Amino acid sequence: MNQVNEKQAAVSGFIDIAKQQTSGDVTRENLDVVLKALIDIASQKNWWSSDDYPAPEGDELQARYLIHEEPDSTFALYLNVMRPGKKIVPHNHTTWACIAAVEGTESNYLYERTDDGSKPGHATLVQTGEKEVGPGEGIALLADDIHAVRIEDEGGIRHLHMYGLALEKLHERMAYDLENNTCKVMSVGVQTRRSGN
Ligand SMILES: [Fe+2]
Repeated sequence: MNQVNEKQAAVSGFIDIAKQQTSGDVTRENLDVVLKALIDIASQKNWWSSDDYPAPEGDELQARYLIHEEPDSTFALYLNVMRPGKKIVPHNHTTWACIAAVEGTESNYLYERTDDGSKPGHATLVQTGEKEVGPGEGIALLADDIHAVRIEDEGGIRHLHMYGLALEKLHERMAYDLENNTCKVMSVGVQTRRSGN
């Protein structure tokens, strides 16, 4: 099998595992299995190289490449290439998510909501954890989990991000403003690139 076929077979094997594990109510135990399989495909650095997936240029700090999604936009796998200084504010996903490192360390900050959500546009959060996600590591998030991402690694990062449903279809995920204790629907951010192998 050549490299492209090998990669395609591995990605489709990974998608099969994700489908099996998330067919019912999704638990942390299910996501741990998905995450382990994601870490496995992320460890093949030559599949995710800058030759096929160039780093962002100019003022852009993030390039997001679509690797796979089902025809109904479920099981969406992306490669994210982010440069130092990129910050993604605290947000939930409204679907499960797994992140695994190919190269570099992505700093993840975890939060819990401390208000009851009864006042529209208002939210208070408390930070509950922090996880550095480097090669061989990953993080899994349930639909309501809240995280923020910062790229503090001076070399930037190349990470696989997997979601139960494509980011472009997540119209109700919330972005939280820690300074002002507010929240609003989160935009998709940079446009997903559909090139690459
Ligand atoms: Fe996220």
